[in-house]
Amino acid sequence: MSRYARHLYREGPDNPFPGLKALERRLGRGIPHRLGSNEGLDMPHRALTARFGEAVAELARGYGDAEAMGVRERLSAALGTPLASLLVDAGADSLLALVLRATTAPGEPVVTSAGTYPTFRYFAEGQGASVAEVAYREGPGMLAPDLDALAARAHDERARLVYLANPDNPGGHLHDDDAVLALRDALPAACTLLLDEAYHDFRADADSPEAGAVWPGVVRVRTFSKAHGLAGLRIGYAIAEPETLAMLHKVRIHYAVSSLALAAAETVLDHPGETREHVAAVIDRRERLAARLRECGADMPPSATNFVTVRLADGETAARVHRHLLEAGSLVHRPAHPALGHVLRISTLEDALVPGRLAALTAALDG
Ligand SMILES: Cc1ncc(COP(=O)(O)O)c(C=O)c1O
Repeated sequence: MSRYARHLYREGPDNPFPGLKALERRLGRGIPHRLGSNEGLDMPHRALTARFGEAVAELARGYGDAEAMGVRERLSAALGTPLASLLVDAGADSLLALVLRATTAPGEPVVTSAGTYPTFRYFAEGQGASVAEVAYREGPGMLAPDLDALAARAHDERARLVYLANPDNPGGHLHDDDAVLALRDALPAACTLLLDEAYHDFRADADSPEAGAVWPGVVRVRTFSKAHGLAGLRIGYAIAEPETLAMLHKVRIHYAVSSLALAAAETVLDHPGETREHVAAVIDRRERLAARLRECGADMPPSATNFVTVRLADGETAARVHRHLLEAGSLVHRPAHPALGHVLRISTLEDALVPGRLAALTAALDG
């Protein structure tokens, strides 16, 4: 069985608009007269400049670099990942959709965990895939995607894709690299492991050499939305084998990432100290919030992310606490999936530590 959607094994399709930046790189010289791409390069942008400054107006006028070379070069230098194994797209979500499009035809099976980050399932159903789910492993201090069950189900279903969020959302659990690679090895030969590493930067070993490793049969998906604070600009990246990325490129919207998002990502990557500081502050707050809630009796599996997860007695209790918090003006997350309806996920912002902010939760724990 082939790993990718059958029609992608034909020649093409080739991106009709690789863009000016790619052509300049190919020619090895700049092209000063940009007369072929019908942008509004002469738009004065007085209003935009007044609000956001000339740099934003300038970026807005022209198409960005479809190959995201500036971001990929910086990622390559930081992670040690070869350029050819990096693809930049409009956020991790966009990459999930891309991997689905490249591997899974309508009616074909994919496997995920019941209650995990739901966008994978949403996109899979949207393109007519058949979605199979396995239960989490739950126990004292443990709420984790069940890797053995994912592998077994992938064989039963002859799955095209297995989705794993690692660290997980909403459980916060981190499987180590050995466990993830053992899962990859346990999958059917043509089944791709779609590894969603949106919370990678919060791992204690985020800077290890393996962080940039290209794992055959795996698409590692990351985002600038969390540790880098660029959620509104929509940018993320994938690490995978070049042959895999070539297939993704065939179904990719080539200008999906805006010039502004590219420039912002380049800027944060040029100032890694600020991201490191942010991540350290998040982890410190996460541990303080977890300690405070545990003191009140909360059942909290360990989190390797920028949120904490509280497990309540049942879905009804969690729904009630969720409603009471909302009435008091605070929105925490309760998964819509019934399998994890008893869970609340709380972002570890300073605001969550304000005394009384989570009163409805602590009252329920007391009761
Ligand atoms: C596991 C997971 N994957 C992907 C995303 C979305 O990331 P992006 O903003 O890059 O699309 C999130 C955001 O909450 C997430 O939790």
